[in-house]
Amino acid sequence: MTISYAPRHWTSRFAFLMAAIGSAVGLGNVWRFPYLAGENGGGAFILIYALTTLAIALPILISEIMLGRMGRQSPINAMRGLIAEHKTLRLWVLIGWGGTIGAFIVLSYYSVIGGWALKYIELALTGAFAGETNEIAASQFSAVVGNPYNLWIWQTLFLALTVFIVAAGVTSGIERAVVLLMPLLFVLLAGMALYATTMSGFGDAMEFMFAFNLAKVKPDTILAAIGQGFFSVSISLGAMMTYGAYLDKEASIGRAAVIIALADTMVALLAGIAIFPLVFTYGLQPSSGPGLTFITLPIAFGTIGNGILIGAVFFLLLSVAAVTSAISLLEPIVAWLEEGVKLSRKWLAPLVGAVAWVAGIGTVLSFNWWADFHPLAAFGVMEQMTIFDVLDFTTSNIIMPTVGLLMSLFAGWVLSGKVVMDALGDGAKAWFPLWRFALRYLAPLGVVSIFVANVLI
Ligand code: PFF
Repeated sequence: MTISYAPRHWTSRFAFLMAAIGSAVGLGNVWRFPYLAGENGGGAFILIYALTTLAIALPILISEIMLGRMGRQSPINAMRGLIAEHKTLRLWVLIGWGGTIGAFIVLSYYSVIGGWALKYIELALTGAFAGETNEIAASQFSAVVGNPYNLWIWQTLFLALTVFIVAAGVTSGIERAVVLLMPLLFVLLAGMALYATTMSGFGDAMEFMFAFNLAKVKPDTILAAIGQGFFSVSISLGAMMTYGAYLDKEASIGRAAVIIALADTMVALLAGIAIFPLVFTYGLQPSSGPGLTFITLPIAFGTIGNGILIGAVFFLLLSVAAVTSAISLLEPIVAWLEEGVKLSRKWLAPLVGAVAWVAGIGTVLSFNWWADFHPLAAFGVMEQMTIFDVLDFTTSNIIMPTVGLLMSLFAGWVLSGKVVMDALGDGAKAWFPLWRFALRYLAPLGVVSIFVANVLI
């Protein structure tokens, strides 16, 4: 096949790491992790999250990057190539299709929430949080999400930023953006976490986050932790596979994956360290759910000195984290189209962006006009769920675990030990048996338990 698109590869391993960490670190770390930890009892959740990420998400992450680098193309075509090369069942192409479709769905709703983050930079800068009480902050949030036109503007802006970066290319778009934005994000977050250590609620926050109370561990806690691990390290949607395809042959995948998973977990913890002291200092509720970031924090920002600056920095950080994740959701789709049609990514990225924008309308309206519309209620499933809830549930609880399961079976059972060992690169010998064991047994077991629990609960 003749290649009609510009060569796609990272110019350095640092660039790959920043792109992959950029994908992993997102709304999942700064928005979802702290509230899940809050709802699930703090320390217990955090410890279990760390353990399940190590035992399940990390081994799958290694396989995903490896499959990408072996296939050297977008997830769908990489899988096709691997199937032909290893003469195995066509069914495995589901890994590519499932991931790519999942990436599209997540992109469609992720950009709506990313839009909230952008909107909140504006609110912070205009001093809109000053003197807020819980009721005012809650009604401010309702006003933001209750107005579809407003959401559309911010969703459009968020998607436009994402499209702009991907359209510019792997090297001059994605790479350039992440090597600039990711260090910025680390500095902002470290600054916020450091600031949080000076607050009176810091001690209580640490106690909440790190005190392990066995009584708080329920089966749900373990499942929530596994699900969050998948989402947070960006496995199963083809993002890491695509980024792996652009990685040089010699790089050690194990080392890279450990760095990515560690950085991702550290950012989630730092986000907690930045957020919970604010919550405890101002006597707010750590377990307030998804509203933690958008309702509880503004109250704190409206009260503290320099609240305008700190609030704006926080929501800027959240937006940067979200954009660098969204580009990794768009890239697998654009890469696949680029391989199959005679259009350049300058056209393809806006095209996919436009379709995702239209698909995102359902999510935008889930928070206002269609808040009471439960699309699957007529079929007797997911009866209370809005379109957004259905999309989120389907991707997090069905598509991601299924693709994760298939990927662990493919890399763990279908490919031979020798093939995989060669594909992993430098220094794999030492940890190879451990990784393979986790991939063959622990990961499938973890994923199947999500399914069983979802059916039973
Ligand atoms: N890891 C991102 C987050 O934590 O927000 C979300 C994500 C991005 C998931 C890309 C999957 C993915 F392929």
